[in-house]
Amino acid sequence: MRQVLVVHFSQTGQLNRLVQSVCAPLQASDGIQVDFLALQPATPFPFPWPFLGFFRIFPETVLMKPQPLLPLKVDADKRYDLIILAYQVWFLSPSLPFTSFLASPEAARLLKDTPVITLIGCRNMWLMAQEKVKARLQALGARLVDNAVLTDACGTAASFLATPLWMFTGRQKPYSWVPRAGIDEAQMAAASRFGDAMVRRLLADQRPIERPMLSGLGAVKVDEKLIASEKVGNRSFTLWSRLLSALGPQHSRRRGAGLVVYIVFLICLILTVVPISALLKKLLAPLLKARIRRQKAYFAGPSGE
Ligand SMILES: Cc1cc2nc3c(=O)[nH]c(=O)nc-3n(C[C@H](O)[C@H](O)[C@H](O)COP(=O)(O)O)c2cc1C
Repeated sequence: MRQVLVVHFSQTGQLNRLVQSVCAPLQASDGIQVDFLALQPATPFPFPWPFLGFFRIFPETVLMKPQPLLPLKVDADKRYDLIILAYQVWFLSPSLPFTSFLASPEAARLLKDTPVITLIGCRNMWLMAQEKVKARLQALGARLVDNAVLTDACGTAASFLATPLWMFTGRQKPYSWVPRAGIDEAQMAAASRFGDAMVRRLLADQRPIERPMLSGLGAVKVDEKLIASEKVGNRSFTLWSRLLSALGPQHSRRRGAGLVVYIVFLICLILTVVPISALLKKLLAPLLKARIRRQKAYFAGPSGE
């Protein structure tokens, strides 16, 4: 019997629905046992988010400082044939509950020498978060064999408004004039193709999973226009996170005041760096063709576009 573990967390339920879609074929298979580990922060994050509360967790998220989780209901000494790590992106970084899991002693035992698939559901900026996760997985001795990503359907520009409004109101389409935030439900249902591919490979033989299973299935789509914005954004986020952390603890007044300054800066950054770097990328595209192709292939790995 093949053993699969699925680690997941979701505030709105979106990532859990994606997990269900991907895992349905695995669960329906007689030869595969699927265990689920739902991460639960010891102090739940609010949803909908209060405006300032949303930004208060920014430094800890970007600096990947683990927060307490409720005890993990998992046998950390069980050997799994495959571990699916489902996570969402917060501030170009893996979400805090997921970061906290990666820092746990249980994760160290579970992930060592184990094939891993990352499954991301986010707005549409996931490249830097995945780089950070890759580095952690490597340090833990895990083998990343695939990465599948689903992003919000309404596109880059619209989602800069639509997704935060969803986070602050709790509704995916709070006003008639904003497009619906979140991943398209039909795309979510179609993600069961990833589960089908895993079943085929897991049942083909009993050998360890060493190669991608999701190649050719459109597991990721790298938007080359966002590569530079993500790199610049991540550098700026790291600097600001250090600064804001130094101002005081999460709920201190000093950090709150620093955050207000930061939020104004962030809005300016989004309104300038993202369109300017996208425009530059477009203008320079003919000259940078080979470099862009290399970058896209790198970020699309290991599954490929
Ligand atoms: C604090 C916070 C920061 C976020 N930052 C990003 C981001 O940098 N990039 C991105 O693509 N999505 C970002 N999102 C959107 C999430 O990745 C995700 O799509 C959304 O929170 C729904 O996930 P869930 O309901 O499954 O938890 C952010 C969400 C939150 C709550």
